[in-house]
Amino acid sequence: MTATPEPRIRNSFNKDWKFFLGDEPNAKSQAYNDLKWRKLTLPHDWSIEEKFDEKNPAKPEGGGLPTGIGWYRKEFIAPANFKDRLITVEFDGVYKNSEVWVNGEYLGKRPYGYSSFSYEISKFLKSGKNIIAVKVDNSAQPDSRWYSGSGIYRNVWLTSTAKVSISQHGLFVESGFVSGDFGESTDGGTLKPGQKVGYIEPHVSFINKSSDKTKKYKIEFSIINREGKQVLKHLLEEDIIEDNTGKGVSSLLISQPEIWSVERPYLYTLVAKIIDSENKIIDEQSTTFGIRRFNFDAIKGFSLNGKPMKILGVCLHHDLGALGAAVNVRAIERQLEIMKKMGVNAIRTAHNPPAPEFLDLCDKMGFLVMDEAFDMWAKKKNKNDYHLNFPEWHKADLEDMVKRDRNHPSIILWSIGNEIREQFDSTGIAITKELVKIVKNLDNTRPVISALTETKAEKNFIYQAKALDIYGLNYNHKLYQDFPKNYPGVKFLATETTSALETRGFYDTADTIRRWPKDGKTKFTAGNKEWSASAYDNVSAYWGSTHEETWKEAKKYDHVSGLFVWTGFDYLGEPLPYPWPARSSYFGIVDLAGFPKDSYYMYQSEWTNKPVLHILPHWNWEKGKSVEVWAYYNNADEVELYLNGKSLGKKSKQGDDLHVLWNVNFEPGILKAVSRKNGKEVLVREVKTAGAPAKIELIADRKNIKADGKDLSFITVRILDATGNVVPNADNLVDFKVEGNGFIAGVDNGFQASLEPFKANYRKAFHGLCLTILQSTEKTGTIKLRATSNGLSPSSITINTAKQIKRKQ
Ligand code: GAL
Repeated sequence: MTATPEPRIRNSFNKDWKFFLGDEPNAKSQAYNDLKWRKLTLPHDWSIEEKFDEKNPAKPEGGGLPTGIGWYRKEFIAPANFKDRLITVEFDGVYKNSEVWVNGEYLGKRPYGYSSFSYEISKFLKSGKNIIAVKVDNSAQPDSRWYSGSGIYRNVWLTSTAKVSISQHGLFVESGFVSGDFGESTDGGTLKPGQKVGYIEPHVSFINKSSDKTKKYKIEFSIINREGKQVLKHLLEEDIIEDNTGKGVSSLLISQPEIWSVERPYLYTLVAKIIDSENKIIDEQSTTFGIRRFNFDAIKGFSLNGKPMKILGVCLHHDLGALGAAVNVRAIERQLEIMKKMGVNAIRTAHNPPAPEFLDLCDKMGFLVMDEAFDMWAKKKNKNDYHLNFPEWHKADLEDMVKRDRNHPSIILWSIGNEIREQFDSTGIAITKELVKIVKNLDNTRPVISALTETKAEKNFIYQAKALDIYGLNYNHKLYQDFPKNYPGVKFLATETTSALETRGFYDTADTIRRWPKDGKTKFTAGNKEWSASAYDNVSAYWGSTHEETWKEAKKYDHVSGLFVWTGFDYLGEPLPYPWPARSSYFGIVDLAGFPKDSYYMYQSEWTNKPVLHILPHWNWEKGKSVEVWAYYNNADEVELYLNGKSLGKKSKQGDDLHVLWNVNFEPGILKAVSRKNGKEVLVREVKTAGAPAKIELIADRKNIKADGKDLSFITVRILDATGNVVPNADNLVDFKVEGNGFIAGVDNGFQASLEPFKANYRKAFHGLCLTILQSTEKTGTIKLRATSNGLSPSSITINTAKQIKRKQ
């Protein structure tokens, strides 16, 4: 078989764009002069580059950064043979209301900022130079309930295919397996224990824009394993290909397949080819997929590949902290690494379709995903939000999400919406039915869910539609226990929980639990002095709970399939309940800079098997103050606490306790905790009273990164005393200088009420820490970072950048 030169070409279309912040209607025309515009590489979020201001129309709830209108233009050379090909420009996501022109010709509009969309542009192209112009309009505010970002904030691609080709997202693979372990059989007979047979059902849909529709083509499917070896090939007989049609195969079988799981996320690749009668490959398209099966049960909860397992999830918004909404694969990967280490096995993409790269990473790293479409339907949450577009666009947006995402083994749930207003009135019934149908028409292999808050079944019209597969409940952890009694036979998932408030490194009296705000009526004023909420896990919104309160309930009952804690990371916007200058959320288990708060270790002690011992708070207090010392631990029977060598007693968790505590009269020195199992030491942790700030320490998450202009090294900056202890209240201003083949992509310190810019070469430390993010250029070599601060010994670190970096699989 001979291949025509590259049947399908898909190239990044991110480079050499021009950008103008403001409205410039003439910029759509080819002749427009954009010489003075700024040159940049996508993905780009202009909001994150700007200054915080309470008066910005997106309000603090939207992150307190400017929004507005922006224009992008790019000159490009049309692919040589474009007249005989289909040339498509693909946008993974533009926030929002994008309009696109090629050579002054209007291609269309896409209101929803989280949808991926594309335009076929061949007929507008000319030989040589062409101009694409994109208007982005995020000016109508208030819009989002969280920070959205503004601009072409996801990747853009240019694809060239033959006129007969596989359509965009036209390759769909359903798969699963049967096993003797479950007493199952195939046509060949009963399977023995340990014996498995994987089945794969590939479907492919086509475009045929060629003038000759009578030509016949063969379709070849092949399956490649992780090691690159072809394990299966299947050929469909020669046939004509009609435009907008599809073909599929039911059940290609693989014996003893490798199974995708969160512990071992094994991916296969399906390749589909269109081959003409001269044996030339006309198009070739591939997708990774995983062989796995899962089940939700009303009594037993969730199981993956037949193994019972609780969904231990977090909700995540799409922003990447100091980098804003601009997609960066390494920044997403880092977030997921931090979550994985905590024991998280599932992510809910609150409340919108994520970047495609996010799902690729979840597939590879072993996360389950609840892929969510909307935060509102036809009824608004904010004046200018998506409710304005829902009537006209919901079908396309939902279809495009399912078509784009349905090959990801990580995805186990489609969510048609979060806390949708229509649950409260009868209009909810018809819309629910319609949306569920849209999803099921495209993918019948996953359950459809919606995150509900109306807890009375008879008053919840989304539930009344009787179209959802699983009851998704937000908050209300006290209702978990009786759910099976109140909803017999109904499958149950805690789609959103907790909403505890915490600021990393800030500890306020531990002994009482606070609800901030107290209720829906009382104005919130407590805690405004520090714009900080205690990290003792003793503050939550009134509709939520502390981390421990909800987890205790969720872990108790098998019928609770799992939970998605609000949220894994702090996110920009929704600083609730704090007023300005707070501008990012307090709900994260990890702060905006990626530094864990203490609750992280509570989850880690519960959600992982690796030994954990974590003590809080820091050990810098006024002499004589009574301080509550907490320890989270696992894999041990007891923890003994020592102050300056003197035992303060052993403690063990009792009943459903998730931590142990001691009341300690502060004296400076060393607080030491030792966990023991059967009298044998498991772990030792120490906190020391720190002296005055004396020096800076720089710690890179990775010292070798790719010289690809995208890769990142996250540098933690620690303020230490003379003997090397982190100074817990240090807020020194740190200046950064970078030399070599890289630049600072962003700085942060995790403080929710800091108004310092994210794009800067300085940052104040917050509770002893700050962060600087170094980004490579395309030149190999080194990036040297030097950090200085008045009165402190400076520090430097060197990061190597190379074309290829070896990483552990
Ligand atoms: C939920 C909502 C989330 C977030 C959270 C804050 O009700 O679904 O988007 O607003 O409250 O507690």
